[in-house]
Amino acid sequence: MKLKNIKREWWKEAVVYQIYPRSFQDSNGDGIGDLRGIINRLDYIKSLGVDVIWLNPIYASPNHDNGYDISDYRNIMTEFGDMNDFDTLLKGMHERGLKVVMDLVVNHSSSEHIWFKEAKKSRQNPYYNYYHWWPAENGTPPARWSFFAPDESAWRYNKATDSYYLHYFAVEQPDLNWENPKLRAEIYDMMHFWFKKGIDGFRMDVITFISKHDGYPEFPSEYHGNKMIEIYAQGPRLHKYLNEMHNEVLKHYDVMTVAEGPGTHVHNVLDLVAEDREELNMNYHFDHQSIGVGERYIVDEDYQNLVKFKQVMSEWDAVFNERGWGTIYFGNHDFPRMVTRWASDAPEHRRNASKMLTTYLLSMRGTPYYYMGDEIGMSNIKFNSIDDYQDLMTINWYELTKMEGGDLDQFIESHKLCGRDNARTPIQWDDTENAGFTEGTPWLKVNPNYKYVNVASQEKEADSELNYFRKMVKLRADNLTLIYGQYELLAPDDEQLYAFTRVLDDDKLLVLLNFSDTKLAYRLPLEFSSANVLINNIKQLSLNDTLIELDAYQAVILRRN
Ligand code: GLC
Ligand code: CA
Repeated sequence: MKLKNIKREWWKEAVVYQIYPRSFQDSNGDGIGDLRGIINRLDYIKSLGVDVIWLNPIYASPNHDNGYDISDYRNIMTEFGDMNDFDTLLKGMHERGLKVVMDLVVNHSSSEHIWFKEAKKSRQNPYYNYYHWWPAENGTPPARWSFFAPDESAWRYNKATDSYYLHYFAVEQPDLNWENPKLRAEIYDMMHFWFKKGIDGFRMDVITFISKHDGYPEFPSEYHGNKMIEIYAQGPRLHKYLNEMHNEVLKHYDVMTVAEGPGTHVHNVLDLVAEDREELNMNYHFDHQSIGVGERYIVDEDYQNLVKFKQVMSEWDAVFNERGWGTIYFGNHDFPRMVTRWASDAPEHRRNASKMLTTYLLSMRGTPYYYMGDEIGMSNIKFNSIDDYQDLMTINWYELTKMEGGDLDQFIESHKLCGRDNARTPIQWDDTENAGFTEGTPWLKVNPNYKYVNVASQEKEADSELNYFRKMVKLRADNLTLIYGQYELLAPDDEQLYAFTRVLDDDKLLVLLNFSDTKLAYRLPLEFSSANVLINNIKQLSLNDTLIELDAYQAVILRRN
């Protein structure tokens, strides 16, 4: 890989830090994080060294799905504050050199949005065609699967119009009708509104689902249940709409875009992100997240299969050798805490394991999306009872499993590993009550390990997870090889070690990560004998000219001399 052949872009060189505002910092004691809370923590955010902040939805919402059900795209959720707070926050970010990316949730709106409130009144209503409908006189609608509906059906009958509306997600999240040019114009207009305010990009929620199949045909029988995700993502006009969005909106600003892309795989992602397509910049996929995780998030023995993981990540990296650009992430608000999911949260391993994963995320090619709280090694809360959950997805699936007479213990055990609320527990700022998140009652329980896993104590400790994260962010920023270098996987079949090289011009780095809880020895490639150690997550290191020994969850980056 030669630097001179690479088209450098700020969003390729950025580290994105994701804030889930509901759980970041409460400023007024109602137990819910808010914009003022983020404003109060701006210096902390800046101190991380990251470049871009992605905010989960902060728009007006009745909160059936924590803000992913928007009732007004141009206003702020009452619980989070108001537009003045937003303007102050944006200004505060920009003054510190941080860019701000917002969530764009336009596959669906809230059923409380004025468009839907009008649409459901009558078939003649001008907003009726802002949504998808199946007239009841045509019989029962063809099967569509819903992520969040209690009966898993994505159609819901509406009496006033004598028709069914489509909702891939909750009943309270009706799908917007992108086939209607008026609707598309409204969305583009709204995007201009936020760009004119000065935001720096959008993360586009389930954007691959926006185009529906004409006439709502029956799907081929292999696409049943959640397998419909694959066909949802293949709507006939998806690329037409994204290209139109590019021309109408995106190309007029210097902004970044990233698709949340269920149904994107190595064979089709370039249609979305290759430069000449003029659609989006980046996409994030689910191929690694789904390793060992089945329907309703029941896990199997492949859950931490390193060989499969390496294979998936390496295939994805290769896609972007010539065109397009990738993303790298473990945690976000929909997935477990990275240290629990991909390594170990056992007390004797949690610290090193989370530093090892941080090393991985920040040494791969592709823009890293790093989830708040992972920088201090937060781990899954692992609720024992369904009553502790707030997430509608876990609650619905639990009810369904119960109704079907399924195995509820297995369900609870699996959701301790995979449930979305594990990543949504409040940030652990210090060891005072409620971890310094709120003076009230937190909307979701605080992980009891806040007594020893928290920001305040890690600030004081030179080699804490937090300070290691800062070091690693800086190392990436200072070494273009970590950003643009060619990636090559070594030892693909090794079940403990993830080893790869990165090469840019004459520079060559070797990244060695022990993904296991036992020691390993690795024979160094000749060119790395007497190499320099760039970073090491554990104080000691056993290294001679030919052999390196890695402790449990040890991570080391070497530079060829
Ligand atoms: C995305 C969001 C998730 C939300 C869903 C519906 O997957 O990340 O949190 O529930 O879309 O909007
Ligand atoms: Ca609050």
